[in-house]
Amino acid sequence: MEIAPGVLYREEDAAILVNGERLIPNVRRFRDLRSVLMEPERLEGDGDAYFMYRDLPPLRGSWARFDVTIIPPWRVGSEYAKTKGHYHNPPSPGKPPYPELYQVIRGEALYLMQRPGRVESEIVDFIAVRALPGDAVVIPPGYGHVTVNPGGEILLMSNIIYREVSSNYSPYERLRGAAYYYTVSGFVRNGTYSRVPDVREVAPIRGLGSIASEFLRDSGSFSWLRDVDRACEEGFMGVRC
Ligand SMILES: [Fe+2]
Repeated sequence: MEIAPGVLYREEDAAILVNGERLIPNVRRFRDLRSVLMEPERLEGDGDAYFMYRDLPPLRGSWARFDVTIIPPWRVGSEYAKTKGHYHNPPSPGKPPYPELYQVIRGEALYLMQRPGRVESEIVDFIAVRALPGDAVVIPPGYGHVTVNPGGEILLMSNIIYREVSSNYSPYERLRGAAYYYTVSGFVRNGTYSRVPDVREVAPIRGLGSIASEFLRDSGSFSWLRDVDRACEEGFMGVRC
């Protein structure tokens, strides 16, 4: 199936192809996730946890980057498959960090987003968004994020982010993951944090076409991805920074 202009997903071997050639992903291994798991002691050996394809052709040469991530279904102990988790950098000191846009292509996703208060272990807002194919989710300015695959299928998702954004994984490593883990029994609070609010469930954005196609058609309507003040005014996910 074509997942973006010129980018194909081949279901038989979960491959991403551009111009008929299979791309080589960056691989996140289980040992890279050890520090953020609820039950790291349940990890048996190593292996591939998920696959990242960065800066795919449709948006190369633009100010934004288009990436695809594939998260197979797995569990470590009772915790579902997930990404490591990170925060973005701010455009300048004193400004909130950059936002990001995600879209599910296949499978099911649970996006977990958190905003720290005065210190990184005190979370003042924790948002969970369940998303199905076609659904989009904005990571609001200042929020760290983790994506969970809570289903039994492969999760295939894409994202668009401003090219200058970098990712900081250290707070998630220091705090043993996000403020909540998602498990077979639902959300489990991470006791490493000193303050954790209740989970705020928010609906995804529905009815968008493929985000890469939409960007190519009208990149101006995505300017909030590189203009944090504008993203704050938009109030995505009920957040006004
Ligand atoms: Fe991100």
